[in-house]
Amino acid sequence: MNPTWVMSYPTGYETGTYLALDMGGTNLRVCQITLTEQKSEFDIIQSKYRMPEELKTGDADELWEYIADCLMQFIETHHGEASKQKLPLGFTFSYPATQNYIDEGILQRWTKGFDIAGVEGRNVVPMFENALAQRGVPIKLTALINDTTGTLIASAYTDTKMKIGCIFGTGCNAAYIEDCGSIPKLAHLNLPPDTPMAINCEWGAFDNEHKVLPRTPYDVIIDKDSPRPGQQAFEKMIAGLYLGEIFRLVMVDLHDKPETHMFTGQDISKLRKAYSLDSSFLSAIEEDPFENLSETADLFQTKLDINPSGAELELIRRAAELIGTRAARLSACGVAAISKKKGYKSCHVGADGSVFNKYPHFKARGAQALREILDWPEKTDPNEEDPIEILAAEDGSGVGAALIAALTLERVKKGNM
Ligand code: GLC
Repeated sequence: MNPTWVMSYPTGYETGTYLALDMGGTNLRVCQITLTEQKSEFDIIQSKYRMPEELKTGDADELWEYIADCLMQFIETHHGEASKQKLPLGFTFSYPATQNYIDEGILQRWTKGFDIAGVEGRNVVPMFENALAQRGVPIKLTALINDTTGTLIASAYTDTKMKIGCIFGTGCNAAYIEDCGSIPKLAHLNLPPDTPMAINCEWGAFDNEHKVLPRTPYDVIIDKDSPRPGQQAFEKMIAGLYLGEIFRLVMVDLHDKPETHMFTGQDISKLRKAYSLDSSFLSAIEEDPFENLSETADLFQTKLDINPSGAELELIRRAAELIGTRAARLSACGVAAISKKKGYKSCHVGADGSVFNKYPHFKARGAQALREILDWPEKTDPNEEDPIEILAAEDGSGVGAALIAALTLERVKKGNM
């Protein structure tokens, strides 16, 4: 649980022009956001850059240089050579970071398959700023932000019922606003107990001790073969990075048990390649109409050179459903936990990420689980809103980052921390 120094919801009346940089895991995105005079309105221009796969396990200098080059390119395209005034930047760095200040981020550990030496345990801000300074990029980092906090603040900008921000994507995590009086980590600062503080829960690390959740042999393998065994136990059961791999491990295991007769006599060498199936593979299986599962058969043929029988197709589909359903239901446990802790009986939860937005039935399965955990009565009218609804969020790492930069500058102007 990391205090983030985001200390209020937005009012909707924030203004100004900000840059936002998102280093999420898959893409790098740079945006310029103008919060307009009109309440809760904004303009955005943005560019996306593919994050080369090698960078994730490469060298720290190369990472920062790549990021600085993308920013440079963005500024040159959108501001021309003339821009000398330093633009305030909100940097969405979606990894667990200790922050004694909002413009500091000591990386606790890499998550989501990243493994770059020399960054863990260090403040990433000076590394990032050095790379900018070397290129003369006219930017001032104002705030370092977690994607969940950005999601919470961006969603609360347009909907005052938003109380929790979640990401269900490559990784999985949430943020909410706590009172400082309930944050033992900040007790030494003697802040007034009702001071609000957004907390990045890092719930992906829940149950790293493996004392709560039952684990399958496949979960054990995922963990053992990951760059950080023992870390992110909860995330490894839910997040998009792992869903396809869990499924692949199930398929290989079934094949290797002769008594199951799964893919008997077929060459499964392609299926043996770790991380060769991503969560979109599972999505496609779950989207296939159950009547004939012809899409699934095609997928197995084209991608894996495997021709499943009718019975095998049904088993494939059931396995995908189980993996997707477990992920959605575990996610709902996290939302329920925060809601119970804060006593939220009715609120909105803003969610973003590829799994939330694209994985079939994820939303409905999550909503059903929330209903069971929080013991709501069955709906009488299907159109009735649930007391706690998980809704598609506003753009956290763009608009959210800009808003947090704006809130930070306002706080500094007022002389508050
Ligand atoms: C991982 C990161 C966390 C981030 C989440 C979603 O869990 O540790 O900081 O919020 O992924 O991107």
